[in-house]
Amino acid sequence: MSSGAVPLIERKKSGGELAPSEIRSLLAGYLDRSIPDYQVAAWLMAVCWRGMTEGETLAMTQAMVDTGATLEWASLDRPTVDKHSTGGVGDKTSLVLVPLMAEAGAAFVKMSGRGLGHTGGTLDKLESIAGFRTELGLEEMSAQVRRIGCALVGQSPALVPADGALYSLRDVTATVNSVPLIASSIMSKKLAGGAGTIVLDVKWGSGAFMPTQEAARELARALVRIGEGAGRRTRAVLSSMREPLGRAVGNALEVREALDTLNGGGPADLWALTVELGTHLMLLSGLASSADDAVRTLTALRDSGAAARRMEMLVEAQGGDPRVVARPDLLPAAPIVRTVAADGEGWVAEADARTVAEAALQLGAGRLRKGDPVDPAVGVAVLARVGDRLAPGAPLAGVHARTEAAAEAAETHLRAAFRLSPEVVAAPVDLYETVG
Ligand code: URA
Repeated sequence: MSSGAVPLIERKKSGGELAPSEIRSLLAGYLDRSIPDYQVAAWLMAVCWRGMTEGETLAMTQAMVDTGATLEWASLDRPTVDKHSTGGVGDKTSLVLVPLMAEAGAAFVKMSGRGLGHTGGTLDKLESIAGFRTELGLEEMSAQVRRIGCALVGQSPALVPADGALYSLRDVTATVNSVPLIASSIMSKKLAGGAGTIVLDVKWGSGAFMPTQEAARELARALVRIGEGAGRRTRAVLSSMREPLGRAVGNALEVREALDTLNGGGPADLWALTVELGTHLMLLSGLASSADDAVRTLTALRDSGAAARRMEMLVEAQGGDPRVVARPDLLPAAPIVRTVAADGEGWVAEADARTVAEAALQLGAGRLRKGDPVDPAVGVAVLARVGDRLAPGAPLAGVHARTEAAAEAAETHLRAAFRLSPEVVAAPVDLYETVG
C-alpha cells in the first residue's frame, strides 16, 4: 500500500485540487501496482463527489495519454479528423461519415468500441460484413490511411492503457458517472489518435448516457475544454436520443441503413446528423470555407456515388466483400420477420429509444457482458416515428428474430416503447446545439 496516496485522497475528499504531478503519480502507481485498487477507487469516488477543476481534468487526460503510444500524422498531406459519439441507439453515423470525409479530402482513422448494455458498437456492426477485420495493427492501419484516407478499427490496446484499467475499476465501484472522469476517458483516446480536428456528438435522452440536454451540455463543455487545452480544434454537437437515430437498430440492419444512406437513400435524420457533424469537421479542418460550401460538397459526394466507392475501398482493404456496398442484401438476414401493428390510433407521441434498444438486446443484437456473442442478423426496424399519424393496425415496428419465441418476447417489449396520443403531435425538428 502507498501511504503517499492517502494525503491526495484526503485532499480531494475535502474539495481541494491536485497538481498535475500528483495526478500523474496516482496513475503511474496504479499501473505499476504500487498503489492498490482500493486507494484508487477511494480517490475516484472523491472525484465523483467533489469534481475536478479544469486544470485537473486536462492534467488527468494528458497523464492518461502518456501511459501509452500516440499516433503521429504530421507527414500526411491531408488534414486529420476524428469524431466521437457518446453512444446511442441506432447510431450508425460513423459508417456514413468516415468514407464521406475521406472522399472530401480528410484522413480519418475512426477507432470504435463494441456495444455494451443498451448502446450499439460500431465494431459489432462492421463485423456483420463477412470477413471484415476490425483489429488492424498500428502499421497496417497507418499504411491504409495513407493509401485510401480512412480506417474503421477497434481501439488499439497500445493507446491509453490506463483507460482500460481505470474503466474496469470505475465499472465495479459506481464511479463511471462523473463528468471529469468520462471526459478525460473519452478525450485521452481522441488525443492519442492524433487528429488535429475533433468533433464530438454528445447525445441526450432516454437512449443516451446523459439523460437531459443540460447534462449533455456540461459534458460537451468539459470535452471541448480538454480538446482546446491540448491544442486540437474541437467542437461538440448536442443531439437528441429520445427516439432511435434512423429506423434500424441491430447490427446488419444498421449497416444496411448506413449503406442505403451512402447510396442516396436512407432516413432523413441520419443524413441530417451526418451532414451536421461533417460540416463542423470540414470547417474546422479548412476543407470548406462556409457551412453552405460544406453541405454542398458532402451532398455532391454522396450523389455522385464517390463516397460509396470510397466505402467499397475501405471494406475491401479490411477484408470484407466490397460488393456489399451496392448490394446490402448480401448482409446476414434473420429467418423470422414479424410486424408489430398498432392496436389503437392517433399520433405517435413517443418511440422510446431505450425500450427499443432493450428489445433489440433481448433478440441477441447486443451483449449484457463483455465477450458475449452477438447475432448480426437480428434487431428492430422502427417503422413509426414521433409525429406520424397511425390508423389502427398500422405498423409500429418490424422484429427481425432468430426464433418465434424471441420474436414474441420482443413484440411485447416493443409495444411498451410506443405511446399514441389522440392530440396532434408535431414531428421533432433536428435542431443541434453547438458547443465550442
Ligand atoms: N465512454 C468512454 O470512453 N469513457 C467513459 O468513461 C464513458 C463513456
